Amino acid sequence: MNITKFVFNIKGDERGSLVALENMKEIPFDIKRVYYITDTQQDVVRGHHAHKNLKQVLICVHGSCRIGLDDGTEKTEVLLDKINEGLYIESNMWRTMYDFSEGAVLLVLASELYDEADYIRNYDKFIEYVKGV
Ligand code: TYD
Repeated sequence: MNITKFVFNIKGDERGSLVALENMKEIPFDIKRVYYITDTQQDVVRGHHAHKNLKQVLICVHGSCRIGLDDGTEKTEVLLDKINEGLYIESNMWRTMYDFSEGAVLLVLASELYDEADYIRNYDKFIEYVKGV
């Protein structure tokens, strides 16, 4: 499976690190929504869904977590543990998020506003859906 991980520039100096992300530059879409996930216990698995249209970039801005990806044919796992690495998840990809380290913060940049109708939350329906696209 082809995985796209972006590596962002860190504008670090003696004061600390700064990463800047702009629409259509570091991020390949207009960012319409930002959300972040915190306080996730280590044995918790989030996600379990796919999106019909939404595109996202996931960045673990503190700590680490793993992302499971499944395009309906192949499965893979990606470790996110760097503030300057962004995992690009395009549409029609079943994803899970797990193995959150203590204090992990997962930042998500999304190409669309929240829309429950864009979600596929049933795995069998996802497999059927990707066969048809
Ligand atoms: P959920 O989809 O279960 O999160 P995850 O992908 O991590 O498993 O979302 C949790 C709750 O937050 C759910 O009630 C929907 C709501 N929500 C929003 O209101 N806006 C958003 O942008 C997102 C991602 C979720």
